Amino acid sequence: MHTPEYSITGETAVITGASQGIGRSIAETLAAGGADVAICSRAQERIDPVADAIEEECEGSALAVECNVRDRESVERFIERTIEEFGDIDCLVNNAGGEFVAPFEDISPNGWNAVMDLNVTGTVHCTQVVGETMRQSGGGRIVNLSSVNGQHAAPGESHYGAAKAAIIRLTETLAVEWAGEGIRVNCVAPGLIQTPGVAETLGIESEAMPPREQVDRRIGYGEDVADVVQFLCSPAASFMTGETLTVKGVPRPGNSMEHDLGLER
Ligand SMILES: NC(=O)c1ccc[n+]([C@@H]2O[C@H](COP(=O)([O-])OP(=O)(O)OC[C@H]3O[C@@H](n4cnc5c(N)ncnc54)[C@H](OP(=O)(O)O)[C@@H]3O)[C@@H](O)[C@H]2O)c1
Repeated sequence: MHTPEYSITGETAVITGASQGIGRSIAETLAAGGADVAICSRAQERIDPVADAIEEECEGSALAVECNVRDRESVERFIERTIEEFGDIDCLVNNAGGEFVAPFEDISPNGWNAVMDLNVTGTVHCTQVVGETMRQSGGGRIVNLSSVNGQHAAPGESHYGAAKAAIIRLTETLAVEWAGEGIRVNCVAPGLIQTPGVAETLGIESEAMPPREQVDRRIGYGEDVADVVQFLCSPAASFMTGETLTVKGVPRPGNSMEHDLGLER
């Protein structure tokens, strides 16, 4: 009889942008599952408490490092420090990302570049640096964070949508280029997830949150994404690469992100 293997116990996972929101949920979930996690954000004082909480409550260890994914040297220092602490890296989760909502004609060159830099170039920096070590050690798993905005057009999201669409194609291309190196590259595309980033960008607060068990809902939890990321990192997904898994409920008409933004078509 075959039993699926969802465990990542004893592995080392790097998660970017883990001081809050989805990244924090992914770090906590993987560490609770027995992985050692190396986590970063742009400020040591914001990432340290996450590592402390993980060390206290989870099976795996946590290393917190200040790192700006938009800066290649900063990423190189983060990964060097991770290898010193834990040795080879098994999993990379490119979570750091963000946006602001604006009509295309109002987006300045700086605003456009900031969204591209954070969501695309940041992922490229981390994937090239960690990918090199994975190739040397004989393989690994990479999970990228896209968005439903990378799959479907939404007004006000031209920069973010283009960036997250790029992440999906980057995932597909690397899956092909690195298949022979034992590196699986997959992607998750969340719908609306309640995080501090969403509260700030869209003004959607947590009182809107329904029970996690309820599928028909407009907004999800970080854990909903983290569970799928753990699956993609695990041996159970060993014959999956280059895929994008959409992680969203089924919002009722008139009860969706587009409705909240006044963007419903
Ligand atoms: N929430 C959603 O509805 C949703 C839906 C689809 C996709 N996503 C994607 O999921 C990911 C997480 O979203 P979220 O809502 O959890 O975001 P969030 O609440 O804004 O958190 C973003 C995290 O990234 C870190 N970060 C930002 N810029 C960084 C940089 N340059 N270098 C390193 N870390 C950086 C932040 O930490 P510091 O501020 O401490 O640096 C924070 O920990 C993003 O890629 C987002 O595009 C989110």
